[in-house]
Amino acid sequence: MSHRIFNFSAGPAMLPTEVLEKSAAALLDFQGKGFGIAEVSHRGKEFEGVNDEAITRCKQLLGLGDSHDVVFLQGGATQLFTLIPMNFLHGSADYLSSGEWSKKAVSFGKEVGKINVVASSEASNFDHSPRPGEWKMSSDADYFHVCSNETVHGHRLPTWPKHPNLIVDASSEFMSRPHPASECALVYGGAQKNLGPAGVVLAIVRKDMYAKQKKTPSKLWSFKEQAENKSMVNTPPTFGIYILLEVFRWLEAQGGLAAMEKRNATKAGMIYDAIDNSNGFYKGTVTVKEQRSHMNVTYRMPSDELTDEFVKTAAKNEMVGLKGYRTVGGIRASIYNAMPVEGCQALAQFMKDFASKKA
Ligand SMILES: Cc1ncc(COP(=O)(O)O)c(C=O)c1O
Repeated sequence: MSHRIFNFSAGPAMLPTEVLEKSAAALLDFQGKGFGIAEVSHRGKEFEGVNDEAITRCKQLLGLGDSHDVVFLQGGATQLFTLIPMNFLHGSADYLSSGEWSKKAVSFGKEVGKINVVASSEASNFDHSPRPGEWKMSSDADYFHVCSNETVHGHRLPTWPKHPNLIVDASSEFMSRPHPASECALVYGGAQKNLGPAGVVLAIVRKDMYAKQKKTPSKLWSFKEQAENKSMVNTPPTFGIYILLEVFRWLEAQGGLAAMEKRNATKAGMIYDAIDNSNGFYKGTVTVKEQRSHMNVTYRMPSDELTDEFVKTAAKNEMVGLKGYRTVGGIRASIYNAMPVEGCQALAQFMKDFASKKA
């Protein structure tokens, strides 16, 4: 049995033990063939089988039909901050700026063309996401870009907005709940939080977007070319895609995304309860309760000294990765799909014990 502790890192993050065991076995000896899956051609039948099954399972999990393609890209979600406007920005595009990541998407977008920021919560250090009533949408935007879960600040869009050409950065909540991906123009995310290792980006592209695509400087950066070539314009990150396949199998075995949503709500609820019942010892950083993320739980403590002590003592108790992002401070507990219920239980209990000693 491997030694596994509760790892609350924001990403790269915990993966299910079963997925790691199966992937490790396939790395050494794929289906008893005497070679590992990372050691064969991406154009050979073994990897082609993996790629096809990963696409099929991804579509099943998200309830996608023939209208959308699944592509596995590289360069991180950050590369897509540029590729999206490079492909689809003609006149101007609408962006919601609700945190560090969507703000970055705006700044990368501005390198390519005209971006209209429909609303921003930066003035209050992104302590919430601007509400739909505040959004100043334009009537002729090429697309509307949102980040559905702000990893740094710990809030999410309770429901994804409706827009004819909605583009969603779902990096830190991909497949943690059912998503209306079939209604979106594009959904994308770096895999390293909920789906697999760093180095793979999952993108779901609605096929009618290809007709609106600009000519890209290279076909390597064209969504259409990547989809038509099954993400093999060049060598794809084969082992990363293999791990994604194991995660998709695991998600299905857990009961699919609706079951994950339930479990994630229970897990997050344990930690939010510990915050809300602490008589103010822990203070959530998100000011709009219904926007509290089920993936990244952020809170502050009475002093930096206590925060340091909390992080260090938690680590001694086999709970690591709890330090908050530098612009927010405090604690961030990232509890993606792979974090077991027991991990959240243990953290909630630790928070109660710590507060009762220090308050
Ligand atoms: C919501 C969100 N978008 C984008 C990124 C950037 O991802 P990458 O580092 O894969 O480029 C991150 C990384 O943490 C993120 O949390």
